[in-house]
Amino acid sequence: MISTKTTIPGPKSLRILKALKEKNGGWAVSYPLVFSGGGNGPYCEDIDGNTFLDFASQIASNPLGYNDPEMLELVKFYSPCFPIKYAGQDFATKEHLDMLEELIKIAPKGFNSAFLINSGAEAVENAIKICMRKRPGTKFGISMQSGWHGRTLGALSLTNSNKVHKKGYMRLPMLRLPFDDTAGEEFERLLRSEATPEEIGFLIIEHVQGEGGYNIAPQKMISEIRAIAKENGIPYISDEVQTGMGRTGKWWAFEHYGIIPDVFSAAKALQVGAVVAPKNMFPKEPGAISSTWGGGHVLDLAIGIKTIEIIKKEKMLESNRKMGGYILNRLKDIKNLSNPRGLGLMLAFDIIDHASRDNVVAECAKRGLLVLGCGTRGIRLIPPYVVVKEDVDKALEILEAAIKTCTKRGFNHSGSICDFIHCGKTLS
Ligand SMILES: Cc1ncc(COP(=O)(O)O)c(C=O)c1O
Repeated sequence: MISTKTTIPGPKSLRILKALKEKNGGWAVSYPLVFSGGGNGPYCEDIDGNTFLDFASQIASNPLGYNDPEMLELVKFYSPCFPIKYAGQDFATKEHLDMLEELIKIAPKGFNSAFLINSGAEAVENAIKICMRKRPGTKFGISMQSGWHGRTLGALSLTNSNKVHKKGYMRLPMLRLPFDDTAGEEFERLLRSEATPEEIGFLIIEHVQGEGGYNIAPQKMISEIRAIAKENGIPYISDEVQTGMGRTGKWWAFEHYGIIPDVFSAAKALQVGAVVAPKNMFPKEPGAISSTWGGGHVLDLAIGIKTIEIIKKEKMLESNRKMGGYILNRLKDIKNLSNPRGLGLMLAFDIIDHASRDNVVAECAKRGLLVLGCGTRGIRLIPPYVVVKEDVDKALEILEAAIKTCTKRGFNHSGSICDFIHCGKTLS
């Protein structure tokens, strides 16, 4: 149950957040709290004794919520072992093989190989690298407007959603397609006037754009660009870092479109990063892709494997579709929000403007509900797969009240929360 006993952030959280802001060279905290480790299902606790309902799942990275009993058992099983982290690709563990096998089982037929790495950006990085290696001499990649693929330099070159992420960094040469029904036409035009198919190394797409605004790809666009990529021998990469692992009600978002990519990436809910593809997409030479720690954390691998097992056992693809449908319908009845959208438990809606959106996110946190923004004025709802109707009803009640409060003329937040998350004004 939600319980907010202090101001948010509470005094103990505040002390740590302040010090983190001071000392962390990559400061970017999303929740105005410091986790205590306590909590249950979609509810998490902070070190001030507050309990929050988490409708952001740490940006889709926590599909089973807090303190899942099977996960606690698993951690206990591994706790007598040291090291738990073995040095990646070069030193074999059984969990490495188990993870590959489980991933292959939930991938389309013919996807008989995968490469494990640490993060989503590294998964994307390696996905584009294997495509480049397969087609030596290519000059450009293609990505989508408002797409978001991570922060390593390769992945960042594909990212087109917010200039703050790219400012000052060098880039790979890229061409872009609009994320709408004109994409096919534009793709044909690029191939006529900007680059030959032999010059294009890959096309990468999120079938539901994440950071860019939870934009759901139209079927026409996907059918057309997939067909053009295939006709021209251009590898088609589906970035499933945020959408994957059942979030949208299918294991992978591309499955909603009746297409099969050449390569796909996964991370977040999988706990480790992965590139999944038919074996012949990967370079033959040992060492062409690798990393000291890549995917080799035994506990992380075990958690990822267990996550797949629980999703299957608890039939969560189906329940995510059902619960997602319920939330979407309920959103349509809430005043002062627009464009409710979503697939499965990957949902969003828009608020009138950017500042009000940020204020609603902060107001929800003050009331014990954790949500996050996306795009310029979107709020996303990405609860853990374990939410039940009662949690959803509570979350929507808070959202409705927060929207009502924050869309009043002249509304402004005050208090230290605005020093840590955006509150309708720019963070210092
Ligand atoms: C679609 C997509 N690709 C890649 C990434 C990068 O993942 P990571 O932050 O683990 O590097 C993200 C992260 O939000 C993402 O949403």
